[in-house]
Parts: sequence; structure tokens; C-alpha cells
Amino acid sequence: MTAELAGPGAATAPPWLTSVFERDDVAALPVPPTATCALHGRTTSAAVARDFTDKTLRGWGLPHLVPDAQVVVSELVTNALRHAPGDGAPPIRLQLVNDRFHLGCGVSDASERVPAVSSWSDLSESGRGLHLVDALSAAWGWMLTRGGGKVVWALLDAHG
Ligand SMILES: Nc1ncnc2c1ncn2[C@@H]1O[C@H](COP(=O)(O)OP(=O)(O)OP(=O)(O)O)[C@@H](O)[C@H]1O
Ligand SMILES: [Mg+2]
Repeated sequence: MTAELAGPGAATAPPWLTSVFERDDVAALPVPPTATCALHGRTTSAAVARDFTDKTLRGWGLPHLVPDAQVVVSELVTNALRHAPGDGAPPIRLQLVNDRFHLGCGVSDASERVPAVSSWSDLSESGRGLHLVDALSAAWGWMLTRGGGKVVWALLDAHG
């Protein structure tokens, strides 16, 4: 299943992905294979996320997705660290979801402030991360979660 792409960040997450992010839902669909990594260390989290992504995707037989997925999770984790207030909040969490046709990447944080795609040019010093995510993914977006906070997610085509 492919999420509708209605512009940067405007996509709605497909049900198999929301069923993972809202795992406590009594009516949840069966969830596809999922790997979860809690990220605590502020300076090392993006590197930990890249390493976790590498190991997980190789274990799932998806080594061809490693380079793009590492860029995507790195940008999403860095954004969660930089833009989502975290004092006393639950740790940032990376989830990788293997739906056979797509790899889902989700990064949860405790803030309900949502991503805002900015206009960006070669001379800009920031505002580049979500453009990279948009370029590398089939769809991406965010959803507020019932427990508070949100998940920013991206789907990569499993066939590369
Ligand atoms: N997890 C998030 N929580 C809250 N706001 C976010 C989050 N991710 C992105 N944003 C908002 O969206 C904007 C655009 O994000 P983007 O990653 O494109 O640029 P940046 O992080 O500002 O700069 P760069 O990624 O180039 O270092 C951010 O400046 C921030 O305001
Ligand atoms: Mg960024």
C-alpha cells in the first residue's frame, strides 16, 4: 500500500504504520515486523540510529536500503533532538517497520509542534533536512499520538 502523496509532509500514514505507532489500540491491525530503538544520548543519538538501521536492515535482507534509510533516520532524529523540547520527556524513539513493499521509518518525540517545510536554496544554512527526507522517500508525514507527542515518519520503497 502506498500513502497518498499530497505535497511535502502532507501524506497520511498508511494503516499498517499507524497500527505500529498506536500499538495500544485495542482494534489494532496485526503489526508487521518492527524494530525499536530508544535514543537517550543527545550527542550520539543520530549515530546510534544509523548503526541500528544498518544492522536491522541487513538482518531483514534489505541491505540496498541502508544508505537512504540512514540519511532519513539521521535527519529525523536530529530534528527530534533540535526542535522537540525534551526536558523530562520520554526518550526519542526510532521504529523501523518492514511491510515487504515499503520500509517505514518513524521517529517519536514528546513535542506536539509539527515539522514545517521551509523554502531552501543552496545558500541556506538550515531547512535542508526535510527536503532530503522528501527526496528519498515515497511519502512522509507526521501524526500526533494519543499519549502526547508525535511521530514523524517516512516510507522508503523496499525495492529501492
Ligand atoms: N521533530 C520536530 N519537532 C518540531 N519541529 C520540527 C521537527 N522536525 C522539524 N521541525 C520543524 O521543521 C523545520 C524544518 O526542518 P528541517 O529538518 O527541514 O530543517 P532544520 O532542521 O531547521 O535544518 P537542517 O535540517 O538543514 O539542519 C525545523 O526548523 C523545525 O521548525
Ligand atoms: Mg533538520
